[in-house]
Amino acid sequence: MTVATLALLERWQAYSERGIPLHMAQHMMSLTLRIVGQALFSLDLSQETSTIGSAVTTLLELLGDYVFRPFPPLSVPTPRNRRIQRTIHVLDQLVYRMIAERRTRQTEGRDLLSMLLLAQDEETGQGMNDRQVRDEVVTLLLAGHETTANTLTWTWYLLSQSPEIERRLHAELNKVLGDRVPSVADLPELKYTRMVIEEALRLYPPAPVLSRKAIAADELQGYPIAANSMILISPYAVHRHPALWEEPERFDPERFTPERAATRPAYAYFPFGGGPRVCMGNHFAMMEAQLILSTVAQRYQLRLIPGHPVEPQMVVTLRPRYGLPMTIHATERAGRQQ
Ligand code: HEM
Repeated sequence: MTVATLALLERWQAYSERGIPLHMAQHMMSLTLRIVGQALFSLDLSQETSTIGSAVTTLLELLGDYVFRPFPPLSVPTPRNRRIQRTIHVLDQLVYRMIAERRTRQTEGRDLLSMLLLAQDEETGQGMNDRQVRDEVVTLLLAGHETTANTLTWTWYLLSQSPEIERRLHAELNKVLGDRVPSVADLPELKYTRMVIEEALRLYPPAPVLSRKAIAADELQGYPIAANSMILISPYAVHRHPALWEEPERFDPERFTPERAATRPAYAYFPFGGGPRVCMGNHFAMMEAQLILSTVAQRYQLRLIPGHPVEPQMVVTLRPRYGLPMTIHATERAGRQQ
């Protein structure tokens, strides 16, 4: 994770020197995509990041629209539905190629892709077909990068608006790491770094709305729920609810000290969902976000282009509607090293 981040920072240097803004949302997307491709599937996706990135953006926008206007259904070839199918086809081609390449080579079960290809049904002894492997790979690739990228993007935005919090973050990085590149062993000590990320996940949960289908008729606090109805649960709304959070709109990582976190109801905060379908990548995501945030912040401070509008947009996930162009500046400490 830090190797990929350091490679990105090297490319940033020229932009930093010339004061050229970078589109942080895109940079975070391609970084986390490369990381998840490498970590789970040993794939170098550096050549594919822009194809996957624009396919994912198109798909989320179209599917976001579909959630609110589900007519006509996907099977009817309207212009929107045809675009959805075309975009899925772009992703499919890429993933089927990866599967075909791996099937032709000897697999040793060292990564998740090999494990998926070698997996056998306990009863029938049958392996997965390409379609089943494709479903798993696409789910993990998409769920495994877009959300973490949004978390980091919003964190950069919040830090750029809160100099005092940024200063405390740098103080922790200086104290715990000095000039060292962070490693997993440092994470328990990077407590404030983690609190900053947790607070960014509160204000901008990348999955702002979760849905469930009622399997039977029920009643919730006096509200009747008909069988088969769709229930929407919003971490975004709950995370900003004044009955649960003091000054809910304020960015304040101190809310996540263990003492204060212990006083809150369990489901006041659920950026990773909950219950049996809780995010299976939550520890991976927190580790990745902590490592990327600390590696970047050790070297750079990110500043929003003055006057650039920032507004959350829900396109299945929560992104900054107008992107996040930022200039990058060497932090004092990194400035001394150069
Ligand atoms: C900050 C980053 C992330 C956030 C905020 C996040 C959020 C979520 C949420 C809210 C759910 C539950 C959806 C529901 O209940 O309907 C979920 C499910 C899931 N997430 Fe994540 N996620 C993140 C990162 C990751 C990563 C890095 C991976 C994989 C490496 C991943 C893989 C998954 C998978 C496979 C599921 C489906 C689990 C199931 O249905 O059993 N996520 N995620």
